[in-house]
Amino acid sequence: MIPFFSGANVVEAVSPERALEAVRDAFIAYARGEWTMPPKVYVPAYPAGDFRAMPALGGGHALLKWVTSFPGNPADGLPTVTGLVLLSDASNGLLKAALDAGAVTALRTGAAAVLAAEVLGRPDAATAAVIGAGVNGEAAARTFVARGRRVLLWDVDESRAQAVAGRVGADVAASRDEALAADLLATVTPGREIVLEEGALRPGQHASLMGADGPGKAEIAVGELARVHVFCDDWEQASHNGDLVHAVEAGVLQRDDVAQLGDVLLGNAEGRRASEDITIFDSTGLAIQDLAIALAALERADDLDLQTIDL
Ligand SMILES: NC(=O)c1ccc[n+]([C@@H]2O[C@H](COP(=O)([O-])OP(=O)(O)OC[C@H]3O[C@@H](n4cnc5c(N)ncnc54)[C@H](O)[C@@H]3O)[C@@H](O)[C@H]2O)c1
Repeated sequence: MIPFFSGANVVEAVSPERALEAVRDAFIAYARGEWTMPPKVYVPAYPAGDFRAMPALGGGHALLKWVTSFPGNPADGLPTVTGLVLLSDASNGLLKAALDAGAVTALRTGAAAVLAAEVLGRPDAATAAVIGAGVNGEAAARTFVARGRRVLLWDVDESRAQAVAGRVGADVAASRDEALAADLLATVTPGREIVLEEGALRPGQHASLMGADGPGKAEIAVGELARVHVFCDDWEQASHNGDLVHAVEAGVLQRDDVAQLGDVLLGNAEGRRASEDITIFDSTGLAIQDLAIALAALERADDLDLQTIDL
């Protein structure tokens, strides 16, 4: 019998703080070469959205996430991100668990946004803001709050920001400019329009750019990328999809200009250089992050009342 973790089970099994710790360890294991990850495969179904097949191997297990990004779905009352995570035993190939991909994705995306902000932001950063209060923006806000920060939220749909603020214990920013002035930013918008225009970030700020995770998307202008100190989750993935590809194609960014978060965590790459440095973290989302959450959930399987699948 294979345990199935519904979205609610995933949330019950893995707290935002546990998620952050697990995702940090996964970035380090990946940077060391202990965990491996073939490139994410995009299956475009535009203009409606796209599917992604995301495999990873590590911790004695293999994982496949089959997940979507359909940005128009919320208008029909449907989630943008849905799908399934399959976790298998890497010693014999047997399936060990199935998990709701939306919940796993939100937990690890919130964890990565806050981890990058804590690692790359100024040590004395005081304020945090999340731009885009959808499912994954809510996860980022919840993780900031779990780490003891006051969080401002801003969304083009104010009712969404208000609902999330009530659920996670955050505040709604009085204006977009107030949110954009925070020391630590996480942008989690659909990536159809630029959030950070050239000149938007001020010295000392950090922004975790989570929304532009696929072809054709961007949350930051190429001119702004040229002004800041750029980090990413994985160069191979990030230089082909999302924010960085536009700057790479324009010849503004090259491999040597960009450090991977795992290499910074390992001490193999330089992080923030000075308090006036402006840092950005471009996330396209890695299967190793999903593996970290799936393994953390599996640790709790015996404590939870889970449905099972009989193959
Ligand atoms: N990097 C990653 O690992 C990762 C993981 C999951 C999702 N994503 C991406 O993040 C994005 C958001 O995903 P979601 O599931 O939270 O979607 P969602 O539809 O639930 O939420 C998006 C929110 O952004 C708001 N918004 C739209 N344009 C905005 C703007 N210009 N400024 C402020 N708010 C704006 C919308 O009103 C909505 O509340 C998608 O593009 C998705 O593909 C990335």
